[in-house]
Amino acid sequence: MTTLLTTHDIARIVAAHGLPEVLRRVEAAITTEFRRWNDFDKVPRVAAHSRQGVIELMPVADASHYSFKYVNGHPGNHRVGLPTVMAFGVLADVATGKPQLLSELTLTTAMRTAATSVMAARALARPGARTMALIGNGAQSEFQALAFAHGLGITTMRLFDIDPGATARLARHLRAAGGLQLVLCASAAEAARGADIVTTVTADKRNATIVTPGMIEPGMHLNAVGGDCPGKTELHPGVLANASVFVEYEPQTRVEGDLQQMAADFPVTELWRVLAGQAPGRRSADEVTVFDSVGFALEDFAALRLVGALARELGLGQTVGLIPDLADPKDLYSQLAGAAPALRAAA
Ligand SMILES: NC(=O)c1ccc[n+]([C@@H]2O[C@H](COP(=O)([O-])OP(=O)(O)OC[C@H]3O[C@@H](n4cnc5c(N)ncnc54)[C@H](O)[C@@H]3O)[C@@H](O)[C@H]2O)c1
Repeated sequence: MTTLLTTHDIARIVAAHGLPEVLRRVEAAITTEFRRWNDFDKVPRVAAHSRQGVIELMPVADASHYSFKYVNGHPGNHRVGLPTVMAFGVLADVATGKPQLLSELTLTTAMRTAATSVMAARALARPGARTMALIGNGAQSEFQALAFAHGLGITTMRLFDIDPGATARLARHLRAAGGLQLVLCASAAEAARGADIVTTVTADKRNATIVTPGMIEPGMHLNAVGGDCPGKTELHPGVLANASVFVEYEPQTRVEGDLQQMAADFPVTELWRVLAGQAPGRRSADEVTVFDSVGFALEDFAALRLVGALARELGLGQTVGLIPDLADPKDLYSQLAGAAPALRAAA
């Protein structure tokens, strides 16, 4: 049997442990998997593009587990009452191919993306960073804000969205969570002013220029989350040209990240190398660093394993008959038990 985890189960895991603790564990799990990068079979995700958005499949495997995530990105979905990003995924046993876990990954993606952002900023942002600009105040934004507040000690958030209603919702939730000083800004440039970290998490299916070179201050770290698809970017190429750029999986980010705007030989460093001690992260207080985040399958692999373990501890999830339960593995036909039509007697 396969265990099914719904959004309700994930919410109960968060209720049992608290969001800061779950984010901390997700970050630790992703860091552990990134440090053993070479144990994994990796491919860039497979994308099906349409005028409205993209649907992607994200597989990855090591010697014992295989996972994939189904995820979409449709920036106009709010007009039909749906989120921009929706996801679910599977964790399977490599030795037999048996799907062990089928889980929602919409909430989980928001947590793993925020945890990955903090993991990168821990290595790349200036020590002592306290102020973050958060540009794009949609579904992912609370998770980014709270992950940076709890994980990195950010105390001031400078918020901007072209939709003032989105900023108002985010501010309401962050005030209820407490502990953060909020500055509501009238433009992306105003939000970035004086920030140690600039997080962009906007959704727009075009080459947007949310952050321009004039907004960059020495020592800034940019956490660019929303440019994650061909033709969908957030940073002016001049920002990348004058920064040290870090990526998840280079073959995927070259096609999908803000990096798609740069020459094929523009230098980047894969983040796992920094985490494994094979490459430096930030090298000086004045260096400008960019994490060109697009989302990589290994983050979902780590998150699936973690939510599976947390659900087991709490007795959550239901077993479902996703694959047949057979007394004789060769007798698949018996599953039809009475449903198969009797063969007509030959005339
Ligand atoms: N890198 C990753 O791992 C990863 C993971 C999940 C989502 N994403 C991406 O993050 C982005 C945000 O996702 P979401 O679920 O929060 O989407 P969302 O649609 O809920 O929110 C996006 C927000 O961006 C705002 N926005 C659009 N253009 C803007 C602009 N020029 N300036 C300021 N704000 C602007 C919108 O008004 C909206 O409030 C999407 O592009 C999504 O594809 C990336």
